[in-house]
Amino acid sequence: MKILIVGGGGREHALAWKFRHDDPTCEIIAAPGNPGIAQIGRCVGIDVTNFPALITLARTERVDFTVVGPEGPLEAGIVDRFREQGLAIFGPTRAAARLETSKRFAKELMQAAGVPTASARTFTSAGAARAEARQLGAPVVIKASGIAAGKGVIVALTLAEAEQAIDSMLVDNAFGDAGAEVLVEEFMQGEELSLFALTDGTHVLPFIAAQDHKRIGEGDTGPNTGGMGAYAPVALATREVMRGSVQGVFVPILRAMRDAGCPFTGLLYAGLMLTKDGPKVVEFNCRFGDPETQALLPLMASNLIEPMRAIAQRQTLAPFAPFTWYEGASVTTVVAAAGYPGAVAGGDAIALPDDTEDVTVFHAGTTRHADGTLVTSGGRVVAVTALAPTIAEAQQRSAAGATAVRFDGSQFRHDIGWRELARA
Ligand code: AMP
Ligand code: GLY
Repeated sequence: MKILIVGGGGREHALAWKFRHDDPTCEIIAAPGNPGIAQIGRCVGIDVTNFPALITLARTERVDFTVVGPEGPLEAGIVDRFREQGLAIFGPTRAAARLETSKRFAKELMQAAGVPTASARTFTSAGAARAEARQLGAPVVIKASGIAAGKGVIVALTLAEAEQAIDSMLVDNAFGDAGAEVLVEEFMQGEELSLFALTDGTHVLPFIAAQDHKRIGEGDTGPNTGGMGAYAPVALATREVMRGSVQGVFVPILRAMRDAGCPFTGLLYAGLMLTKDGPKVVEFNCRFGDPETQALLPLMASNLIEPMRAIAQRQTLAPFAPFTWYEGASVTTVVAAAGYPGAVAGGDAIALPDDTEDVTVFHAGTTRHADGTLVTSGGRVVAVTALAPTIAEAQQRSAAGATAVRFDGSQFRHDIGWRELARA
């Protein structure tokens, strides 16, 4: 088995690690990959948007299939290009990726398909958007319709904040085209869950739920980040919540996508809010989530390669049994560079603890110099995943692993999984 992974973050390292775990003889090629992936596969210095070079690589290496990590190349149509060349690839087409890349498209489809979500209206005029925000009252949520590097969602606690967000998107063009359409959305209250499912467009293989930690500070305080940690399983994701989400969210949205002529294949990620009226969709993502993937894959007992290969080769998931999971809990702690989520310097030498049976270090923002030194090269540097019989022990082991990651200015949260511990 030979698999090409497109991407070079912690999520892609976790996928490579899982493929190798499933099939120790599996050959992994990554573009561009990272120094962590380089320990288990071959990294080729091709950018994720250089489709001609990626197609040539997939063809000359005769890979069984290609997996796409980040949303950027999906939005740019990598799946369409590979399929035109008859190459097997895991991910949605450009049209299907709109579930993530156009919040307006996703919202209208959910409304039409009866999928529970916050009510919202889309605007291109700042005056009309401001009038809608005043009508709804604070708190209210302002969203750029397109992809804005995680910064396009403002949960406005006051009307002044809402109006400022609207003006920055529609008047000052702070997000360019991504902010040329703005959703003014009802504020939802509740705890969030990340729910992933593999799909061939019709059948659904759900993962167990995970919970992300978006804020930089302990106790979920301070600015939003790309995610400072994650854990699984989540006790809130009861059998009823899971069944309700598959039947009430995944099944109808996938049917609506088929009816719209753009069936969704790959991994569909629903960000859910558990409101007092039941689970409602916050957003969809058209790819694996980061850092949830680093928490989920080490807990997964089932083989992941085979259903992903089936999807990439456009076969049905019907023969696959539901996924099974190891007992116990998984906690992933992200170790970030000083200054994150703002600008970071990079170039600081890193020392890492060795992986053990229960603790794995996934690389995200690291680079190896020609002389072999490992240095920081991004905001989120590595993620440390620990498995343990209980969430408390997993948190403690994960934080101990994060403490053993050494570089100047390293920062991490010691409290990943705190909501679950508070429940226990
Ligand atoms: P995103 O960057 O799209 O993942 O969204 C950022 C965060 O904004 C979500 O994880 C939620 O915490 C929050 N959010 C988005 N929409 C709503 C909403 N309608 N009500 C409350 N919070 C929301
Ligand atoms: N965990 C959030 C994301 O991947 O978008």
